[in-house]
Amino acid sequence: MKFNLFKETIPPLIGIDISSSAIKMVELSEDGRGGYKLEGYSTAPLAKDAMVDGNVGDLEKVADAMKLAWKLLGSREKRAALALPASAVISKKVLMAAGLREEDMEAQVEAEANQYIPFSLDEVNIDFQILGAAPNNADEVEVLIAASRKEKIEDRVAAAEGAGLKVTVMDVESYATEAAYSLVASQLPNSGAEQTVMIVDIGASMMHINVLHDNNSIYTREQTFGGGQLTQEIQRRFGLSLEEAEIAKRKGGLPESYETEVLQPFIQLLSMEVARALQFFTNASHYNRIDHIVLAGGCAAIPAIDVAVQDRTQVHTLVANPFHSMAINTKLKQQQATTDAPALLIACGLAMRGLTI
Ligand SMILES: Nc1ncnc2c1ncn2[C@@H]1O[C@H](COP(=O)(O)OP(=O)(O)OP(=O)(O)O)[C@@H](O)[C@H]1O
Ligand SMILES: [Mg+2]
Repeated sequence: MKFNLFKETIPPLIGIDISSSAIKMVELSEDGRGGYKLEGYSTAPLAKDAMVDGNVGDLEKVADAMKLAWKLLGSREKRAALALPASAVISKKVLMAAGLREEDMEAQVEAEANQYIPFSLDEVNIDFQILGAAPNNADEVEVLIAASRKEKIEDRVAAAEGAGLKVTVMDVESYATEAAYSLVASQLPNSGAEQTVMIVDIGASMMHINVLHDNNSIYTREQTFGGGQLTQEIQRRFGLSLEEAEIAKRKGGLPESYETEVLQPFIQLLSMEVARALQFFTNASHYNRIDHIVLAGGCAAIPAIDVAVQDRTQVHTLVANPFHSMAINTKLKQQQATTDAPALLIACGLAMRGLTI
């Protein structure tokens, strides 16, 4: 398939996030008034060895989970947008002469890529997008080049095909987060204009940081920390299987000691990790403050997590809800969608690729 990170007009599709703990799908449509409508979403759990460090570890398990998620979604759409983790993509901004012909531009992109990609060019897929005029020179344009090893793309495509789906877009997770942020921004004062916002996506195994200023991404970082740690502690303390611990965590029913001896320490740890990430950013950049922290990922569903993070960091904190200003299909439960929303940020950003709103 073509590695089309940046293709702009495309037919409707389903956004699919292949993460470490689950396959997550989101389907959007236009609401008829220039906004989005949530048609459906679904999640199917992945076994531990299905995805390994962002790579497909067990193709059959990933394909089976995709099949299940698609069935639960109840859609007829088979076209899909997938994404690679940012760590699997090398991207670089370069300047090129304005007004180059397509072929000349492609040749130049290859030449540039050759310089900074540590693999042979026939092992990689390359894509590029003109970002606009160069800041200080009207004769040049700024071009974003992205490259990834072919097998990383092919493995994901194979899993989707194994589930009977057709991949029409291959994006990057951090770009999908940025796209979905435009939905979350409506939750912020003045829609986030001129503000510096840190999106912290805490999933099962990773914490993804993405800082935006005036709605443009200025910093990304990943570190290992996630809800899996809490699940393991629940397993260990209460002698449960992974599945039991996962259910208990979300639905309750654990002994009283859970709240004070397991959950609270985890919340403190999480808040500290966010505070550290914040410190890291302010040390590394010339921005010396963050105006808002937006929590996403499954861990953002922990009750009052925003309060704990805000207390620790002294920065206004809220939980992401990409469905905040969307119309919602009446077959869905609004309350449940709001609870599930933070973990669906990437899938949501991918689903947006199929619409031109
Ligand atoms: N209501 C809840 N309370 C506490 N934890 C929850 C809740 N819902 C989900 N989680 C936790 O969130 C984590 C899953 O989050 P998410 O779906 O964002 O992960 P992921 O995208 O698969 O992981 P990663 O991004 O690290 O690959 C799991 O550890 C899960 O137990
Ligand atoms: Mg995730």
